[in-house]
Amino acid sequence: MKAFLFDLDGVLVDTANYHFLAWSKVCDALEISFSKIDNERLKGIDRRNSLRILLKIGNKELNENDFEYWLVEKNKVYLEMIKQLDRTALFNGVIPLFEKLKEKNIKIGLGSASKNAKLILSRLEITDYFDCIVDGNMTTQGKPDPQVFLLNASRLGVNVEECAVLEDSKAGIDAAITANMKAIGIGSDQSIKHADVVYQAIENIELDAVLELFEE
Ligand code: BG6
Ligand code: MG
Repeated sequence: MKAFLFDLDGVLVDTANYHFLAWSKVCDALEISFSKIDNERLKGIDRRNSLRILLKIGNKELNENDFEYWLVEKNKVYLEMIKQLDRTALFNGVIPLFEKLKEKNIKIGLGSASKNAKLILSRLEITDYFDCIVDGNMTTQGKPDPQVFLLNASRLGVNVEECAVLEDSKAGIDAAITANMKAIGIGSDQSIKHADVVYQAIENIELDAVLELFEE
């Protein structure tokens, strides 16, 4: 393994829940009923496609202006919710994993659909750990398209077969598999069971077991 690529929301920090809460507000206003189960379908999906999925769920249509309005509105609500975010919000185990990867000379990348990724990394004070950051401002295709991870591999100068991807979403695991990278799932949702290995939380990751995946 030459590179370890991290998703952000729901992997390094619990912002996945803030995305859910912010979309819930939008859905209330648009009279769309939206549950935590529906939300699994939005994980890893960029903002624009998330709203498209929600409109389908609610069987609603918006004209172009209103569509753009609710995209901006959702982000306003989301940014307000994460205003207090700081280093203490990092999931347990993140920094020790970064340190172990550095020790082993394994490159660290970020592959996130979020346009707020750099802001969040800086609030969490972990920007400097990353050898490469690819976010939602730098891609034209969202997950499950593998672009965000392929761009990491090419920027880092490593083969896709030498990369592991850590993801909490079905879209992200699918993107990793399509990229020909090892897919590591985080969480307990059924939708990520097809990953190469799944851990309950980032603090449970056994790096040696992940390295063994590359020897098979
Ligand atoms: C992903 C989240 O990381 O980023 C999605 O899992 C979110 O829920 C997407 O829609 C885009 O995020 P942002 O911050 O650009 O709205
Ligand atoms: Mg995620």
